[in-house]
Amino acid sequence: MSNTSTSPFDIEAIRSQFPVLEREVNGRKLVYMDNGATTHKPKAMTNAITSYYETINSNVHRGVHHLSQRATDAFELTREKLRAHINAEHSYEVIFTKGTTDSINTVAWSFGELVKPGDEIIISTLEHHSNIVPWQMLCERKGATLKVIPMDDHGVLDMEAFKALLNEKTVLVAFNHISNALGTINPVKEMTALAHEVDAAVVIDGAQSMPHLNVDVRDLDVDFYAISAHKMYGPTGIGALYGKEEWLNKLPPYQGGGEMIDTVTFEKTTYAGLPHKFEAGTPHIEGVIAWAASIDWLNELGMENISAYEQELLEYGTEALLSVEGLKIHGTAPNKSALFSFNIDGLHHYDIGTLLDQLGIAVRTGHHCTQPLMNRMEVPGTIRASMGLYNTKEEIDTLVAGLNRVIPMLK
Ligand code: ALA
Repeated sequence: MSNTSTSPFDIEAIRSQFPVLEREVNGRKLVYMDNGATTHKPKAMTNAITSYYETINSNVHRGVHHLSQRATDAFELTREKLRAHINAEHSYEVIFTKGTTDSINTVAWSFGELVKPGDEIIISTLEHHSNIVPWQMLCERKGATLKVIPMDDHGVLDMEAFKALLNEKTVLVAFNHISNALGTINPVKEMTALAHEVDAAVVIDGAQSMPHLNVDVRDLDVDFYAISAHKMYGPTGIGALYGKEEWLNKLPPYQGGGEMIDTVTFEKTTYAGLPHKFEAGTPHIEGVIAWAASIDWLNELGMENISAYEQELLEYGTEALLSVEGLKIHGTAPNKSALFSFNIDGLHHYDIGTLLDQLGIAVRTGHHCTQPLMNRMEVPGTIRASMGLYNTKEEIDTLVAGLNRVIPMLK
């Protein structure tokens, strides 16, 4: 197989910005293929965290003093950068949260206040637990019904079944842009248009798409889009919820506290406008500020270039992995991200993952927080190698060689 890359960017120069990629694990050079769980961080981002603490550390939106104003400006600059990155109309449509799970729970709680008994919510077979459980909790709380879009054996959602589920009782449809367990890229724009025909709101779990795709929320016309910074080379503990202005204005706040109010008396509180209505308490300031460095860094590389390079990895890796005897890839959608979920005939995913780790290869094993999906595929779990933009074809060769070495040990 050819190792020639047509990548428009210099992969070695990119890798050199990630000191962790130089380290050894179990005496071998680290091969990190667990980017679906979290990505590593470029120096530009970690430098931004240090710089924040060393130069402007202060609380935001609260002080008249110089440092607080500098911190507030930097904090709000990230909001604007994220707005531009996802092409939202207004920066106040970007709410900072703890991450995708927190963003989805925010909608489930706030939107949930508008839900009535008998209303219907639709999710898909491909969902992560964080896009299942909050809706189950809401349905239980409000007497609503949860419906699930089925998929075929390739991991592609059944559009005819989706159309059949939609009706005048459907108030909300929630699904992921990219499946964390199979890599399927869902047709968000088409599904959103269908949901809007019955006036249902659309919530997208964008945790896995933000590092790989150019996301344009206005083109997709989604009502809510949930994001985690740490999956897109940013810090952990911070994320965002994009929401259309009209929805965010209509929904009640999720949490009460400082910063989200306009006036407070013991008798009555009035709420702040957007985005502050949804941002109670001191936020993850350094996380927000440093996230801007990751966004800039991704944009310098170019999301289209990243997608194209990762599609090369997908093609190369699919062919390489299928050369391994007894290997079955789960998730073979025609539109897929560079993620390989697989099992080896007769062997347990956990044993393979443990032995690969001995060779310095980091993959995730298990149900990937998608137990209903694993049940649909009739497997207890899979081995998942999820690519980031710093992975190489040589590393895929190392994974394949690793599998060919560990499989005989387990037979
Ligand atoms: N949702 C993350 C994953 O898929 C944690 O690994």
